[in-house]
Amino acid sequence: MNICIVGTGYVGLVAAACFAEMGNDVVCVDVNPHVIEQLSSGKVHIFEPGLETLVSRNAAEGRLTFSTDLKKGMKDALFVFSCVGTPSNSDGSCDLSYVDTVARQIGEILTDYKIIINKSTVPVGTADRVRTTIQKQLQERGLSVEFDVVSNPEFLKEGGAVNDFLKPDRVIVGTDNVRTAKLLETLYAPFARSRDKMIIMGIRSAEMTKYAANCMLATKISFMNEVANICEHVGADVREVRAGIGSDRRIGYHFIYPGVGYGGSCFPKDVRALINTARENNCQPSLVEAVDLVNNRQKVMLAEKIRSYFKNRGGLEGKTVAMWGLAFKANTDDMRESAALDIIRSLTDSGMKVKAFDPVAGSNAKSVLKDNDMVVVEDDQYAILEGSDALAVVTDWNQFRNPDFNRMKKMLTGPIIFDGRNLFARSFMKEMGFSYFSVGGQPVMADNCS
Ligand SMILES: NC(=O)c1ccc[n+]([C@@H]2O[C@H](COP(=O)([O-])OP(=O)(O)OC[C@H]3O[C@@H](n4cnc5c(N)ncnc54)[C@H](O)[C@@H]3O)[C@@H](O)[C@H]2O)c1
Repeated sequence: MNICIVGTGYVGLVAAACFAEMGNDVVCVDVNPHVIEQLSSGKVHIFEPGLETLVSRNAAEGRLTFSTDLKKGMKDALFVFSCVGTPSNSDGSCDLSYVDTVARQIGEILTDYKIIINKSTVPVGTADRVRTTIQKQLQERGLSVEFDVVSNPEFLKEGGAVNDFLKPDRVIVGTDNVRTAKLLETLYAPFARSRDKMIIMGIRSAEMTKYAANCMLATKISFMNEVANICEHVGADVREVRAGIGSDRRIGYHFIYPGVGYGGSCFPKDVRALINTARENNCQPSLVEAVDLVNNRQKVMLAEKIRSYFKNRGGLEGKTVAMWGLAFKANTDDMRESAALDIIRSLTDSGMKVKAFDPVAGSNAKSVLKDNDMVVVEDDQYAILEGSDALAVVTDWNQFRNPDFNRMKKMLTGPIIFDGRNLFARSFMKEMGFSYFSVGGQPVMADNCS
C-alpha cells in the first residue's frame, strides 16, 4: 500500500519505518529540510533504539523515501498520516497550528480520493476541523474531491517506540464509515497477527481515548508521588508500600514508581490540554488539575532536598552538584519538559553549580542549556563527580544502577547522593558509607555527616 507520513519526528519516523518494514511504500515528508537531508543521507536525527537499522534497511530496499515536497509525498498515497507536533499554548490549550497547516496544504493539493489520518494527539473535534479546512481549500479551488478523515491516535513510548509500534497493545481507529475502517484494518493487519487488536469507534471517542489514556497514566504517577511524600513524613518506605499495593491485581505494579515527576513531550501537555478541553465545555476537571499540580511540585522536590541539606551546612553559594541524567526518561534523547531542567534551574537560581551527564541527551542538553553559565554538560559519568559536593540521580538509565561506588566516594568532596529514581538500596548505601536521600524513604546519614 502507498503511504505518506507528514511530520518525521518520534511518531512519524517510527510509523514510517514500521509500515515500510511490512512491505508498504512510504514517503516521509517534513518541512525541516535539515531533517530530510540527514534522513536521505542515511542518518537518523533522533535517538530511538532499533530505529536506525529499520530506517536504513527499508531505505536501501527502496520502500522508504524522504522529501520536503508534500505534493510528491501524496501523489500515489491512499493513506496520508499527519504526525506533526501539537505542543501546549501558554494557556495550556493545544496548539493546533501545525495540524491546521498540514490540513490546509492537503486541501491545496488533493486531486483524488485519500484517507487523511490524524495520528497526532489532538483535542476532540479536531477531525471535524481538519475536514472543514480541507473542504474550504477544495471549494476555493472549485473542486469536488472525495476524502475521509480518520482519528488514529498513537500509543508508542519513546525509548521503546519501534517495539510498541510493531507489537501494539491495541490500534484505535475513529471513523464514521465502514469502508475506511476496513482499509485501516488491512493496513494494520501485519501488526495484529497474534490477536485482533483493532478497536473501531466514533471519531470523537478515539480522540478522547488518547487523552484519557495519558491522563490515567499521569494520575498513577502523581498519586504515587503524593504517597511517597507522605511516606517521608510518617516514617514509611514507599518501595515497601509499592510492593504491597502492586501485588493487588486490581492495582498492578506498572506506573506506580515515585520519582522526579513525569516529563516529556506527551503527559504534561496532554494533561493540560484535557483540563483546557474540560473547562471550555463547562466541566470541572478537579482530578486532572490536581495531577498537574502535584507533578509541578514534584519536579522541584529533589532540588528542594538538595538546597535544604546544604543550607544548614555552609550555604549553597559555590556548591556543585553532579547530575546523572538529563533526558525525561531512560532510552531517549528527548529533553522536552524533563524534570532535569526544573531541577537545574532551581539549583542554579540558588547560586549552585551543576555538572551534568547523560548517555545520549548530552548534545540536546548542551543546546537547551547554553544560556545558563552555571551548568556544564560533560561526556563522562565519573569525571563530573571530581570535586562535586553531591550527586543527584535524575534519569533511570541502566548504566547508573550499579556504578562503582568506591570510585564515586573518592571523587566527591562528600559521600552524598540525592536519588530521584530510587535506584539504590538504602541498606547498601549505609554499608557503603553514603548519605542517601531517596524519594519516599527515610534519609540515610553517613557516619561522618551530621
Ligand atoms: N513522542 C511521543 O512519544 C508520542 C507518542 C504518542 C503520540 N505523540 C503525539 O504525536 C505527535 C507528534 O509527536 P512527535 O514527538 O513525533 O513530534 P516531533 O516534534 O518529534 O515531530 C514533529 C515533526 O513534524 C514536522 N512538521 C511540522 N509541521 C510540518 C508540516 N507542515 N509539514 C511537514 N512536517 C511538519 C516537524 O518538523 C517535526 O519533524 C504529537 O501530537 C504528540 O503528542 C507523541
